[in-house]
Amino acid sequence: MHPDSIDHANLAWFREAAPYLATLRGATYVIAWSPGAELDTERSLLADCSRLALLGARIVLVNGIRAPLDAALGDAGIESAFHEAVRITPSSQMPIVRAVAGSERLRIEATLSAGALSVGFDSRRLAVASVNAVTARPFGIHGGVDHECTGVVRRIDAAALKAQLDSGALVLQSPIGWAPSGELYNLRHEELATEIATALRADKLIFLSPRDVTTPLIESGLRELTPAAADDWITQQARSASTLPLQCAASASRRGVTRTYVLDGESDGPLLRELLTRDGAGTMVSADNYEGLRRAHPDDIPGLYQLTAPLVQDGSLVERAIDRFETDIEHFAVVERDGLLVACAALLPHTGGVGEFCCLATHPDYRNGGRAAQLLAFLEQRARELELDTLFVLTTQTTDWFSERGFVAGQPGDLPNSGQVRYSPSRNSKVLLKPLG
Ligand SMILES: CC(C)(COP(=O)(O)OP(=O)(O)OC[C@H]1O[C@@H](n2cnc3c(N)ncnc32)[C@H](O)[C@@H]1OP(=O)(O)O)[C@@H](O)C(=O)NCCC(=O)NCCS
Repeated sequence: MHPDSIDHANLAWFREAAPYLATLRGATYVIAWSPGAELDTERSLLADCSRLALLGARIVLVNGIRAPLDAALGDAGIESAFHEAVRITPSSQMPIVRAVAGSERLRIEATLSAGALSVGFDSRRLAVASVNAVTARPFGIHGGVDHECTGVVRRIDAAALKAQLDSGALVLQSPIGWAPSGELYNLRHEELATEIATALRADKLIFLSPRDVTTPLIESGLRELTPAAADDWITQQARSASTLPLQCAASASRRGVTRTYVLDGESDGPLLRELLTRDGAGTMVSADNYEGLRRAHPDDIPGLYQLTAPLVQDGSLVERAIDRFETDIEHFAVVERDGLLVACAALLPHTGGVGEFCCLATHPDYRNGGRAAQLLAFLEQRARELELDTLFVLTTQTTDWFSERGFVAGQPGDLPNSGQVRYSPSRNSKVLLKPLG
């Protein structure tokens, strides 16, 4: 590329990325990923792994085999059985599991090496290593169901993995573990990656997940979470295979992995966007996360009162007695930063499928950071879960903010009876409505 053809966007990007590029060297990243996206997306994702490794990051790529295994079992006329979202692996299916894990390993290794070449590095500089570092045991009998050769990690040989990483190799880890008896077990790659990241005390554990895992998180405005907030969300969603990456992220975070991420593995360049840009690309779970959005609990009542009282005084919020916080607390969501509540909002369900979005406030020191927008996204998602089809808000000073976010003007007569009771003609508030798609 001729220097004159480098445009300002590229220069600006490099300037933003430079400090992050500097942190790559020597940092340990464990990446959990399962093939299944378009082949081009897969190639570019693996080429990015090669790029990061060649720039000095210590990478353990833990690959899943779900989609190719389902395809191979399907070819053999077998449909996998699951119990509570965990696959049952009868010993009769292990030859297929072994064959798929082996061929996937070879295919991924080749793509990584080709990726290193295609990004302009000499392929000989990227060694892709495999280590027999994972000992497993049977997952066992749960709810009376024997999961046979489905396994869980028993021990990770961190020293063996570190030796490979020290030598500059990228470690590619299949989701198979061996028992001292010689038996092999089929592991969930997300759990395996969690164990490896914990054993290595990795700097980052990254789940590159299918879009149906990441979209609900993004739509709920969940960009940064504490493990407790992640647990809350998982309970709301009801635990399932699609909450597994977030469950694992919360667990790793509690066990000392500083930063864990759930990213859209089907998007373009999720690793580069997360590791090399200021805003990142997905959802981060971190125990020392100093800011997080979550549902409120009774201990928040004094903080809520403190946050909203000045806004009641200047007339931007309706007065709310402290005992109203007590009765409505389950309907509130809050953003907490370093133990301080910096933003809040509530969703009060009314009759007729209508919900009231109210008590929206952001601490003056923390405005214009997208917190109110995140709270709206979070509570809209909650409203959908409660099968509400319309939101309304009564506002005196924030009409434009809501209009820009899909609310349209209505009349007091459009409100359900319980909402009309809350409408105070003396405030002359505007009634705004938003249908939920
Ligand atoms: C309105 C409020 C909650 C926004 O909080 P926030 O966390 O700063 O909001 P966000 O960061 O998501 O959005 C910021 C954007 O809204 C705009 N905005 C802020 N207050 C606004 C208002 N009253 N009317 C229109 N737009 C407004 C900002 O200029 C900014 O715009 P930009 O993104 O184009 O720069 C906050 O200003 C507040 O607490 N106000 C007092 C209480 C209140 O009026 N609550 C609403 C009761 S119905």
